[in-house]
Amino acid sequence: ADQYDYDVLVIGAGPGGYVAAIRAAQLGLRTACAEARETLGGTCLNVGCIPSKALLHASELYEEATGGHLAKFGVEIQGATLNLDQMHSEKAKAVKELTGGIEFLFKKNKVTWLKGRAAFQDGHTVKVGDQTVTAKDVVIATGSVVTPLPGVEIDQKVVVDSTGALALPKVPEHLVVIGGGVIGLELGSVWRRLGAKVTVVEYLDQILPGFDGEVRKESAKLFKKQGFELMTGTKVTGVTVDGDRATVSVEPAKGGEATTLAADAVLVAIGRKPNIDGLDLEAAGVKLTERGQVGIDHDFRTNVPGIWAIGDVAPGLMLAHKAEDEGVAVAENIAGQTGIVNHDVIPSVVYTMPEIAGVGLSEEAAKEKVGEIKVGKFPFAANSRAKTNRDTDGFVKVIADAKTDRVLGAWIISSLAGTMIAQVAQAMEFGATSEDIAYTCHAHPTHSEAIKEAAMAVTGKPIHV
Ligand code: FAD
Ligand code: NAI
Repeated sequence: ADQYDYDVLVIGAGPGGYVAAIRAAQLGLRTACAEARETLGGTCLNVGCIPSKALLHASELYEEATGGHLAKFGVEIQGATLNLDQMHSEKAKAVKELTGGIEFLFKKNKVTWLKGRAAFQDGHTVKVGDQTVTAKDVVIATGSVVTPLPGVEIDQKVVVDSTGALALPKVPEHLVVIGGGVIGLELGSVWRRLGAKVTVVEYLDQILPGFDGEVRKESAKLFKKQGFELMTGTKVTGVTVDGDRATVSVEPAKGGEATTLAADAVLVAIGRKPNIDGLDLEAAGVKLTERGQVGIDHDFRTNVPGIWAIGDVAPGLMLAHKAEDEGVAVAENIAGQTGIVNHDVIPSVVYTMPEIAGVGLSEEAAKEKVGEIKVGKFPFAANSRAKTNRDTDGFVKVIADAKTDRVLGAWIISSLAGTMIAQVAQAMEFGATSEDIAYTCHAHPTHSEAIKEAAMAVTGKPIHV
């Protein structure tokens, strides 16, 4: 291996890449990580998970203070006002501390950070900026970029992608969001809470594709109650910008009469695609899937020996924790160990209020894959803690195999859904039945009791409904 500069070169320092690099170094491999950005942490830390959650938290506080929620509990605040610059600067602080944290971890674990854009020269040789390095194994972890909408130009002023929407210098009057997926609903929530009218234009009949059908319906109801305008089954045919105003042309997805929406901000959030720009995969002979992802096998190997791929650039859910787990597994595989990710048990969370979370199969997918299933549901309106906190939106839904009682999936709409879903993920990893969850003692009064009761409902015996 000494014929190479490094044992492992990881390309990209997002949650996939930085984790792979740290684990490889922990396993005693001489490791470098190439990153084109000025800071480590990838999309997630710089312009994704972290800044979006910072604004979601801050805007939630603003809404609580101004929307009558605190007053209902007897906490009366007069004259609460918005200081958007301060909100942005607190967000920037969180991002800076976390990206700096990865830099510290690289130093601590002796991962060499190669600054610059990487391009393959051959299977073991990569140009990073103006230096050329060789490595025995190379991990592609270059993440994803925004899917463009043909005919709609992102100027990051009036027409923005998620990066622009995380940095708007003022609250728009009317934000039109193209795409009723995770980004549209999270960032739409931020600006709605801060005072914008928000219209979401979604091509499909329901928002949140990939989620359980009942959850999609209930979520839409809650978002509408919060003041979102949801135009489902609608497509955008064009956006024209005139100064600081935009006109969005829409028509029914199935065809029909066209109309226009006047907006002062338009967010394009119709998905993300693998980022392979400038990587020169051809020079190494790495093949792509039909959908433009870097093709891999179960162990994260590409078709070229010694080249591996993980995270958003590879197939599967485009989520930070999926990328991280693949980062650990790929490093272990490179080191000759057995790194495995169970792609059937990866939680998804939408960090709106309430949060929307799921793991495993939706009811529809479970019926299709397993056939006979049992479903247990429990509403937060019957959960004592949610009732006490006046926080009763949502429910828990547990789906189990009718024959074996094994849990196949769970869905939660609740203020705490993102944290609660971990319990079901853990149970599923252990091969739990709904009965295992139903007979696990849960502390009272907690929102988590709703998971236990939904599990009890699978066999028809909840206590509190
Ligand atoms: P990335 O994080 O995209 O990192 C890839 C890195 O590679 C980048 O830093 C890029 O600069 C670098 N790179 C690319 N090409 C090269 C090259 N040729 N040379 C050198 N460097 C290169 N996921 C969640 O799980 N939870 C969330 O709450 C969440 N919120 C999100 C909010 C937003 C607004 C967005 C856009 C995404 C969000 N995601 C969230 C998704 C999450 O960010 C991604 O799934 C995750 O970042 C993928 O990690 P990755 O390591 O595969 O790639
Ligand atoms: P998405 O795939 O979640 O949603 C895109 C939506 O746009 C879909 O509902 C789709 O039907 C719709 N759409 C597609 N083309 C359209 C068109 N022409 N007109 C109208 N609607 C159209 O993608 P999104 O929201 O852009 O997010 C990208 C990815 O980033 C997510 O899939 C997720 O993996 C990740 N992410 C995760 C978060 C989390 O975990 N909390 C938060 C934000 C992003």
